[in-house]
Amino acid sequence: MFQNQQITKDIFYVGVNDRQKHKFENMLPLPFGVSYNSYLVVDEKIALVDTVDTCYGDEFIDKVKSVIGERPLDYLIINHMEPDHSGSIRLLRQYFPNVTLVGNAKTLSMVEGYYGLCDNTLEVKDGEVLTLGRHELEFYLTPMVHWPETMMTFDRTDRVLFSGDAFGCFGALNGAVLDEDMNVAPYWDEMVRYYANIVGKYGAPVQKALQKMSSVPFEIICSTHGPVWKAHIPQVAAMYDKMSRYEHLEDGVVLVYGSMYGNTARMAEAVAQGLAASGVKNVVVHNVSKSDASDILRDVFKYKGLVIGSPTYSNELYPAIDSLVRKLELRGVKNKVFGYFGSFTWAGAAVKRLAAFAEGMQWQTADFAPEEKQGLKADTYQACLRLGERMAELLK
Ligand code: FEO
Repeated sequence: MFQNQQITKDIFYVGVNDRQKHKFENMLPLPFGVSYNSYLVVDEKIALVDTVDTCYGDEFIDKVKSVIGERPLDYLIINHMEPDHSGSIRLLRQYFPNVTLVGNAKTLSMVEGYYGLCDNTLEVKDGEVLTLGRHELEFYLTPMVHWPETMMTFDRTDRVLFSGDAFGCFGALNGAVLDEDMNVAPYWDEMVRYYANIVGKYGAPVQKALQKMSSVPFEIICSTHGPVWKAHIPQVAAMYDKMSRYEHLEDGVVLVYGSMYGNTARMAEAVAQGLAASGVKNVVVHNVSKSDASDILRDVFKYKGLVIGSPTYSNELYPAIDSLVRKLELRGVKNKVFGYFGSFTWAGAAVKRLAAFAEGMQWQTADFAPEEKQGLKADTYQACLRLGERMAELLK
C-alpha cells in the first residue's frame, strides 16, 4: 500500500511522523511535529535500524512489511534505547519472532529492563562488523550522545551513517525524506532547539564522537529525527561541532527578563535599545513568563551574548529566571558574554544571585549591573542603556 521511500538502492526509510503530540518528553513543544526515523537495509539478510514511538507501531509495521513483503526480518540494530526509538521493539518481536536484537552490552541490559526481552540478542562491541551479504554494518560506540548506550552504525557498502539522535532535529517530514528534495530552511532552528534542550549537557561526549567519526567516509547521514542529510553534511557537521564546543552560531544577543509589575521589563527595553544603538542587529528579547523555555535555550546556544534581568522574589531570583539559570548550569554552557540587571521592592537579592551565577559559569561579564528599587528612575534607565552599549563593546 505504501509507496516506498528509498535512500539508496537497498536502504529504505520506514519512519513515521508525529503531528499529534503537544510536548516531546512532556516538556518540549512540537509546533512543527517530529519524525521518528527508522531504516531498512535489504540484502541477503535484512536489518532494521531502530524503531519508532509505540503510538505509531501499527503504521510502522505496515511500512516495514510493504518494503520486505513476506521475507523475515533478521536483525534489529538498536542504536539508541530512548523509547521514542525503542518503543516498538516488543510489537516488532510479535510480528517477527525470530528477529535478533543487536546492541552493545548497555543496550541489551536496557532492552531487558524496559521490555523484559533477553532472548535472541547479539552483543556487539566497538568496531565490530555485521555482514548482511553485500552490506557490511560497522558499529561505533558513542556513549552519552546523549544516553550511555548510544552508538552509531556505518553501512560501509553504501557509505551511510545511521547516527541515532546526533544530527537530528524537531520537525516532521513533509513528504520528502532526503534534504536535497525539500526546503530545509525551517529545520535549522529546530536542530538548535533539539540540541540545546536534549543534547546540550553532553558537549564533551559529542566532541569525542565527532572526532571518532571524522575518519569514517560517510556520504549520507540517517539520523533518528528530521531530514536525511546528503546535500548539507558540511553545514550539519559544522553546527554540531560548534554547538558541542559551546560556540555561538550567529552574532547577536539574547535578552531574557522576568517582570511582575513592568519595571524590570522597562529596564530590559532600555538594555535592548542600548544594544541596538551600538550596532547589534540580532537582539532577541524573551519575556521568560511568555516564551517557551526551550526557545530561550535555543537562542542561548545560538548567540554569543546573553543578558538576564530579574526581580527579587522572596529574597531569591524570580522563579522562572531561577529555573532558566539552573538549566544553563546543568548544561555547563560556556563562552558567553554576559550582562545582568534586576530590581526589588524592599531588599535586593536578584542582582547578587546573578553575580554569583556569572562567577560560577566563568563567563566574561559586564563590569556593572543596573539595579533599581521600586519604579524605574532616570539614573537606572541610563545605566541600562549603558549596559546594552557595554555588551556591544564586549562582543566586538
Ligand atoms: Fe530521539 Fe534520545 O531519543
